[in-house]
Amino acid sequence: MLLKNGKIVNPKNNFEDISDIRIENGKIKEISENLAPYTDEETINLTGKIIVPGLIDMHCHLREPGFNEKETIKTGIASAINGGYTAICPMANTNPQVDNAATLNYVISKAKEVSEIGFYPICAVTRGLEGEKIVNVSELLSNGAAAFSDDGKPVENMYLLKEALKYINSHNSLIISHSEDSSLAHGGVINEGKVSTRLGLKGIPDITESLAVARELEVVRSTNGRYHFAHISTKRSVELIRQAKKEGLNVTCETAPHYFSLTEDDIIDYDAKYKVNPPLRTKTDLEAVIKGLQDGTIDVIATDHAPHTVHEKQLPVQNAPMGIAGFETALGLTLTYLVHTGKLTLKEAIKKLTSAPSDILNLENQGNIKEGAEANLTVIDLNEEWIVDASMFKSKCRISPFDKYKLKGRAKMTIIKGKIINIG
Ligand code: DOR
Repeated sequence: MLLKNGKIVNPKNNFEDISDIRIENGKIKEISENLAPYTDEETINLTGKIIVPGLIDMHCHLREPGFNEKETIKTGIASAINGGYTAICPMANTNPQVDNAATLNYVISKAKEVSEIGFYPICAVTRGLEGEKIVNVSELLSNGAAAFSDDGKPVENMYLLKEALKYINSHNSLIISHSEDSSLAHGGVINEGKVSTRLGLKGIPDITESLAVARELEVVRSTNGRYHFAHISTKRSVELIRQAKKEGLNVTCETAPHYFSLTEDDIIDYDAKYKVNPPLRTKTDLEAVIKGLQDGTIDVIATDHAPHTVHEKQLPVQNAPMGIAGFETALGLTLTYLVHTGKLTLKEAIKKLTSAPSDILNLENQGNIKEGAEANLTVIDLNEEWIVDASMFKSKCRISPFDKYKLKGRAKMTIIKGKIINIG
């Protein structure tokens, strides 16, 4: 198969030019200008389109086993592919949790049944995400764990975090932190500030996140560890991580599209579709997140795809679960809010969606376009304007704060091991 005339944007080797790609047996055989098609070779003309390494989501929730009414591995993967993703890393907060080899093998085999998508589960740091006993790290790694996280919950016992970090790092693996001080979160619903006051809702102060980031950075410093912060949402967290990186700490971090496209001001009533953890913050925080993306403090854009049933998201906001379905809007939001506004170049944005997560998690065959590698690619129309229609999501969670948003730029094809799935 020959992909003709597309513009390749490959941050890994800083390449940005029009070129052809020949795919054979699921692998990239040749990258060169003006490749002539073989007889009988399928040729796809991608004039005007962008070809990037397949998007990688290092942070999502697929809900199976245990919460199949919210999402299954099958619907989650379909949603990811529809958003342009060729690799995903589901978190461990299922039921049972992915804290043991049997459940890990179960989710991996379920994923294989439905797709060849790169499937790299993040396993729990502690058994049952209960913050008490560290999981069997070496067993989980030898069964395919990509990293470790209690995401959905913080590890609050600093002794345990320190031991887990030393242990997991000694196996050359990584902790991904859900940084939250739950004594400060205190059952809050949205960001603590003028909107929570106006609506009479219990607030989650911004220091809920930055206090946890600060103390975890001290643990990282004391162990010389390698550590990744999930879903960074506040100005102060960005500043702390920027400073830590300057001082040479081996830390990375991610944010999610809703933290650079929405603020608490978007919450005008009691609509739970905006309810997410960490909560939507202020304009100042949003600007700091964008600055962090620009200066490299924030390495990765992850979706934190956190589907719930429409019924649950229509409950009174106090009772509704936290989470936004993110796969099918992440690329469009990134292109619309960061690239078309000139805040990031296309290459910078694509790096945060591809090679940066691949480098952090050491993923083979993802995040790069090179001869000999698996053909995991995403074809993008940078200028197509489209309206988000949540009722058409492949995810079971057909509710989104971005429903009816007009976005510019979207994935048109997801290519997994050389197989094309057309979108839109
Ligand atoms: O909003 C969220 N939803 N934040 C999390 O950290 C967990 C996630 C979930 O699992 O629903």
